[in-house]
Amino acid sequence: MADILEIKNLTKIYGQGKENLCVLREVSLNISAGSFVVLLGPSGSGKSTLLNLIGMLDTATQGQIFFEGQDLCQIKSERRRSALRLQKMGFVFQFDGLLPEFNLLENVALPALMRGIDAKPRAQKLLDQLGIGHIRHKMPADLSGGEKQRAAIARALCNRPALLLADEPTGNLDAARKEQVFKDFAALARQGLTVLMVTHDVHAANFADAVYTLENQQLIRSN
Ligand SMILES: Nc1ncnc2c1ncn2[C@@H]1O[C@H](COP(=O)(O)OP(=O)(O)OP(=O)(O)O)[C@@H](O)[C@H]1O
Ligand SMILES: [Mg+2]
Repeated sequence: MADILEIKNLTKIYGQGKENLCVLREVSLNISAGSFVVLLGPSGSGKSTLLNLIGMLDTATQGQIFFEGQDLCQIKSERRRSALRLQKMGFVFQFDGLLPEFNLLENVALPALMRGIDAKPRAQKLLDQLGIGHIRHKMPADLSGGEKQRAAIARALCNRPALLLADEPTGNLDAARKEQVFKDFAALARQGLTVLMVTHDVHAANFADAVYTLENQQLIRSN
């Protein structure tokens, strides 16, 4: 299939002058539509940084990120960035990012609601699939880490994104739940969703179409 994401010579340097820190040095990566890609790498190697750049949550120092043929680094208007994110991308942040003043069901349905779509039935279905449908009325503060993490996965999927960016989405889950999420992502990829997932769990590689490791500012394909 065609490449949905084409990253060319991407460099990210935090800070300025002597205090600067180069996290990504001319990193290139192509991801074809409908694939499940796993990103490994030591803590602090720049995995979240890369996801943030793809999600337009931060700006690159140099390089290009083509998403469906469009260079994301050239989209300067925050309004246009937000609109594109909302329409095409789903995020699971490393820290769940649920809104504390809304219950689980509302949190999951919210991104779709922002597009004028009543997604509560779909939100309920996703929560059921992830085994937390029965606690849909609970508030985020009253949930376990794993429950919050599963709600964040449901929220990212509810809007039917083209690209799912998932930053350690299973770090708080037990082994069985973890494996189920990996299987779900692989199945969703078969249906056309592109998944880029950061994890420290090498076992995830068994379910992925491609595995990359980020280390020493470089991205290396490891399968
Ligand atoms: N806003 C920032 N300003 C300066 N340095 C930053 C900033 N964000 C991250 N860093 C640094 O960049 C490096 C990469 O951080 P990043 O969060 O991308 O790592 P990571 O691979 O996601 O790590 P982890 O596995 O622990 O989540 C780290 O050394 C971090 O301290
Ligand atoms: Mg991280």
